[in-house]
Amino acid sequence: MEKIIVTGGCGFIGSNFIRHLLYESAFSGSIINIDKMTYAANADNLKDAASDFPDRYSFVCADICDNAAMENLIQTSSADSICHFAAESHVDRSIADPEAFIRTNIMGTYRLLEIARKHPDRISLFHHVSTDEVFGSLGAVGAFAETTPYDPSSPYSASKAASDHLVSAYHRTYGIPVTISNCSNNYGPYQFPEKLIPLVILNAKEGRPIPVYGDGKNIRDWLHVADHCRAIWTVMNKGIRGRTYNIGGNAEMRNIDVVTMICDAVDRMAGPLDGNRPRRNLIRFVTDRPGHDRRYAMDCSRIGRELGWKPKESFETGLEKTVRWYLENEEWVERVKSGEYLSWMKQQYGD
Ligand code: NAD
Ligand code: DAU
Repeated sequence: MEKIIVTGGCGFIGSNFIRHLLYESAFSGSIINIDKMTYAANADNLKDAASDFPDRYSFVCADICDNAAMENLIQTSSADSICHFAAESHVDRSIADPEAFIRTNIMGTYRLLEIARKHPDRISLFHHVSTDEVFGSLGAVGAFAETTPYDPSSPYSASKAASDHLVSAYHRTYGIPVTISNCSNNYGPYQFPEKLIPLVILNAKEGRPIPVYGDGKNIRDWLHVADHCRAIWTVMNKGIRGRTYNIGGNAEMRNIDVVTMICDAVDRMAGPLDGNRPRRNLIRFVTDRPGHDRRYAMDCSRIGRELGWKPKESFETGLEKTVRWYLENEEWVERVKSGEYLSWMKQQYGD
């Protein structure tokens, strides 16, 4: 792989992945970042990459559903591989309005697969970035394996499940060289603050109410985004074509425990709120998310055994670094808050 198209590279994981390849890995080729710049995209995440790597990094503002734009890209770019992150990614938004999810996550993936099918001489790998949410919800014990049947609960996870099936089908039917990774909840720098961890950090910092859905006992497995990026790059380089790899942090946590850890970390780092009130007092139990999956856990033995990947960051150290990043990067936070995040917050929780 010498010239990789990265879709959705201005989003949370895509921008961390591009930063990983350019600044931290041994990769010496170039990257073309294709992003439609939805509310979740942020050009600030990569503002140094264009000037630090003018010959190795370029950006094209385009919609993956735009067939002509994607065809033109392949014709003019000499790209040899695609790493596909672009998606609508927030479960709550998919419940409020599923259409964009069906369009981008299913139709967009189909469009890119068609491009790969039409140019077998050019595209040597299509890597599809997916989620553990395709497997549905677990009871108190057990973990999702690559062989677990799909059972998605939300419009988001159903759209990702459909896209995974399309990618597998294009491999079986047309022989497209693909790899798929299904990962658990990511956290870390540059995440749009509609997702639990950055939302709680910023609300805690500002003394705003912290919404916990239902009884707060839903369990997620958390993985630092840097570990996810290393895993994706490992799968792209060493993964067997046509194969799926589970990726997770081996860090199952109840939401309420994540939230209280963040409150305590912000108290420690930023000092207590006025009147010496601990930030745990900001927690409010609110109406549950419809179809809220109870528990996720990942069996990551395949990627460990076959490709030698395992996470480096523990949840405790990763969360500490993440809280510090959001507290220290005030300019990034202010610019995010001046846009879509603020209107989303007002819509959800009022002024
Ligand atoms: P994100 O919402 O932060 O970023 C998505 C990016 O895709 C944005 O930059 C957006 O502008 C772009 N995009 C959306 N629609 C597009 C379109 N039609 N054409 C071109 N670009 C478009 O998402 P994220 O959290 O970085 O997730 C990236 C991928 O990883 C998604 O496929 C998601 O399903 C998957 N994933 C996310 C997590 C997680 O915890 N965040 C975990 C597992 C898998
Ligand atoms: O599991 C991987 C998935 O993780 C990714 O595929 C998705 O793109 C990503 O958004 C994430 O989905 P979740 O729904 O798990 O993430 P979210 O941050 O929205 O919620 C995490 C948990 O916290 C979930 O159980 C719902 C709960 N929650 C969330 C928010 C935003 C709250 O209790 N309060 C909140 O305000």
